[in-house]
Amino acid sequence: MTEEKKAWWKEAVIYQIYPRSFADSNGDGIGDLNGIIAHLDYLQTLGIDVIWLSPVYKSPNDDNGYDISDYRNIMDDFGTMEDFDRLLLEAHRHNIKIVMDLVVNHTSDEHAWFVESRSSKENPYRDYYIWKEGKDGKEPNNWGSWFGGSAWEKDERTGMYYLHCFSKKQPDLNWENPKVRDEVFDMMNWWCEKGIDGFRMDVISMISKVQSFPDGPVEDGLYGSLAPYVCNGPRVHEYLKEMNKRVLSHYDLLTVGEASGVTIDEAKKYANNDGSELGMIFQFEHVNLVSGPIGKWTDQKPQLKDFRRVMNQWQYELEGKAWNSLYLDNHDQPRAVSRFGNDSKEYRVVSAKMLATCLHMMKGTPYIYQGEELGMTNVYFDKLEDYRDIESINAFHQYVDSGIVKAEDMMRYLQEIGRDNARTPMQWDDSKNAGFTDGTPWINVNPNYTEINAKAALADPDSVFHYYQKLIRLRHALPIIVYGTFQGLLEDSESIYAYHRLLDGQILTVVCNFTDHEQNCNLCDDPDAKELISNYKVYKAGKLQPYEARVILHE
Ligand code: NOJ
Repeated sequence: MTEEKKAWWKEAVIYQIYPRSFADSNGDGIGDLNGIIAHLDYLQTLGIDVIWLSPVYKSPNDDNGYDISDYRNIMDDFGTMEDFDRLLLEAHRHNIKIVMDLVVNHTSDEHAWFVESRSSKENPYRDYYIWKEGKDGKEPNNWGSWFGGSAWEKDERTGMYYLHCFSKKQPDLNWENPKVRDEVFDMMNWWCEKGIDGFRMDVISMISKVQSFPDGPVEDGLYGSLAPYVCNGPRVHEYLKEMNKRVLSHYDLLTVGEASGVTIDEAKKYANNDGSELGMIFQFEHVNLVSGPIGKWTDQKPQLKDFRRVMNQWQYELEGKAWNSLYLDNHDQPRAVSRFGNDSKEYRVVSAKMLATCLHMMKGTPYIYQGEELGMTNVYFDKLEDYRDIESINAFHQYVDSGIVKAEDMMRYLQEIGRDNARTPMQWDDSKNAGFTDGTPWINVNPNYTEINAKAALADPDSVFHYYQKLIRLRHALPIIVYGTFQGLLEDSESIYAYHRLLDGQILTVVCNFTDHEQNCNLCDDPDAKELISNYKVYKAGKLQPYEARVILHE
């Protein structure tokens, strides 16, 4: 086995902040940069190393900041560039690094480049975006956007269509144009010179499109899939190598690419240990385990055996070749404990700790999404009016209005899978609006905040928070957790997720009961091993109690 190359970002634990929902400092109901600054002590207590900041740039907020109208300015709702500079400084003072979201597959339609681009066919910015003539009076091809409807929008000014893989207010940039790449790389260098510590790259696997723009296979009865022609496209690795040469290689950065549609083989190129592209990528296989006739919209829960198969495969296949990122939820996914654990009163805490154990003891860089460290749950909104997410609202109309799905079924799918489950305000305490804002929150607070909140968690030594704190400390203390190789155990079990990590003769054993029943298991009955962490105080030899997790080290 070749010795793993060491890097600070391989040893780090990342905390994702969705600024709109984190903490509001000025009473307008929207989280902001000063709100984040006010909670840096909290994050330092948790022990994380890095904040990944979802987009804070100027934006009309069609997609909550993932539609950027000015890459070198801060969104009014969030504050000013002075606030950002202070956040960077204060975070660094707290020994916390800042990783920025980089959204360069598309801009907002209000970005100056697009305003110019759409103004005439001869405009010098025309080729910054992807413009096509219609076909027989219709769109250039049958592609459906990820957010519903056609991926093409006709612009009356010139009578041509522009491509938008997401909302029509998010036109795709034309990376074939070297001027676009120059602009993006200049902008990235500008942020690096400010002293930021890395980039999380939004849908970076989509920046190169198959230039023949063929029709896609029709899956939901409405539109053709664009995925085969925009994910991992023909020039994506060339573009990332260029980005690496012209930007990334000049700084010591954490880079993580969001890679929709990525396979393990592709991942080995994006996150290759040779450092020629990115540090790591986010893959989606474990969060896309169940899908129905209308894609991700389903109320089915993933099965342990499928989850383990995917996670273990990524562990095995990237070993020695590329680096994994580890996550169970983020701002686009439902809450981890509601999806993979059990958010009932009885099992929420214990299952949230079990999931954390299972993930944080694996090989790769772990990501915690705000509130996950409290065991925050899905909100289960039961009225469409409560939803704010463009994807959820569009999907509801697309499938219900066309008669493909019944309204009550679609509401259930939104409750299980909808992105707003992750976007309800961070629950700080049991005061009005969970201490998130003095005003009216932009999205309703989860009513369970009176019980589930940071203040209560900090006061309780057995809380999910303190368990995460311990997991992070263990990772920082024990190289085996960062660099040990992974070996799956009991790989046919329907109820237990177990594995070894191995380094320099040491063996770490991790066992997790994914069910609400006691299970037989003697993997932890080793009298010579030392217990590192468990979510149960008392161990019953030969057994695993409901959602029990246990980690032992044999030196
Ligand atoms: C992925 C982001 O995570 C998501 O929130 C966003 O809507 C799309 N990319 C489009 O930028």
